[in-house]
Amino acid sequence: MKQSGSTFSSIGFILATAGSAVGLGNVIRFPFVMGESGGGAFFAIYLLTILFIGASVMLTEMVIGYAGKAGAPSSMETLAMAGKQKWKMMGWVMSGSSNIIFSYYVILLAWIVGYIWLSLTGGLAHDTKEATVIFENIQTDMFSTFLFAGIILAGTFAIVARGITEGIEKLNLVLMPAILLIFLGMLIYAVTLDGFSEALAFMFHIDWSAVSTKVIISAVGMSFFTLSLGSAIVLAYSASLPKGTNLVKSIAYVVLLDTSIAIVSGLMIFSFVFTYGGSPSAGFGLVFITLGTMFANLGTLGHFFAVVFFMALLFAGITSAVSMIEPMLKSIHIRFTISRYKAGVYLAVPTALLSSIVILSLGGYFGAVNLMDKLDYLLSNVLLPLGGLTTTVFVGWFMDKHVVESTINGKLGVFFDLWYIMVKYIAPVLLFIVMLSLLGLI
Ligand code: TRP
Repeated sequence: MKQSGSTFSSIGFILATAGSAVGLGNVIRFPFVMGESGGGAFFAIYLLTILFIGASVMLTEMVIGYAGKAGAPSSMETLAMAGKQKWKMMGWVMSGSSNIIFSYYVILLAWIVGYIWLSLTGGLAHDTKEATVIFENIQTDMFSTFLFAGIILAGTFAIVARGITEGIEKLNLVLMPAILLIFLGMLIYAVTLDGFSEALAFMFHIDWSAVSTKVIISAVGMSFFTLSLGSAIVLAYSASLPKGTNLVKSIAYVVLLDTSIAIVSGLMIFSFVFTYGGSPSAGFGLVFITLGTMFANLGTLGHFFAVVFFMALLFAGITSAVSMIEPMLKSIHIRFTISRYKAGVYLAVPTALLSSIVILSLGGYFGAVNLMDKLDYLLSNVLLPLGGLTTTVFVGWFMDKHVVESTINGKLGVFFDLWYIMVKYIAPVLLFIVMLSLLGLI
């Protein structure tokens, strides 16, 4: 069956890919990982990894999707010069990883809806102790988690099933500008705070002695997560690009948007933290507990900020969640020649099941096992680096170099050879080392 739902416009593709990249990772994970890893040094390494490894790997995904014109399994099967069946399998594994991320990402989104509700009803705590209790209650409240996660799951699947133009592109054309506006507005307020200069210093002052192997590894991990790499998302989106697209330029915009939002949310959050006396290394609770409490203590303006901020966070998360459904949905739709709607239903059922099991584990139904942490570990430390390894080895060693060159269409100019060496030799070795080190094997 020919793909229905057709193609992206070039701005639609950039916004949708940036929409995938800009997510909870930028606002929740980036500031807390940076806070724990000592600020500027981590940030510098993060920028370098994004530019050199992240952007290079992103281009490998784009090349496969754009040249193969299908989801990961079929694209890799068509393009492989050897081992077609094995690469097809890897394509399914990579696409499936996206659905595993989705299964717990949707739960985080349900909590954010809970925080929007609390902000609207004046239920945010005024001290961190009380805020910690509220955060724990939200995580273990089975009824609202199931309700909100269910609504978000049904909504996002419906959007993706509608197709690229009518579903994914339309959503991103509305939500991305909204996110950018809200973050810019909050940055302008943050600039007026006393803690702004301290936040600037924290992020941009580089203390090279703070750089350790651990900081480098966590920067590589973060760059993969934030650019949505290693799980066939960029690959699947690129399959729906019109002929003649400039892949390299699109990457530049996506990386620029993603990095800007990470910087803006870092500056904003740390300005609040340094002004009102929190700790930048408060971990996962930095946004929900620390920031939530600060908003609550700022009176009416604070409550307004809280609502708007959590809304922006929800929007950012929804544009990412949508992208996690596309790789598998598109692959099922093409491989089994069924409509996008049918593919969506077949996929939604196991995804919802996995999600439900994760929610129950958070409610303590399986003893002390926290499945969200376990899945996140599996993804960040095994599946995403493995996905990066897969696409770089595939493009470097198993695709015809002429096809690769003509897909990029001269847009890298003299840098093509450098990129090719990166993809063929350097990135696979680096990713392999990172993976071993993440797993504690070296
Ligand atoms: N990039 C998103 C974020 O920063 C999350 C995300 C979307 C993602 N798709 C992904 C992470 C695929 C890893 C792989 O929140």
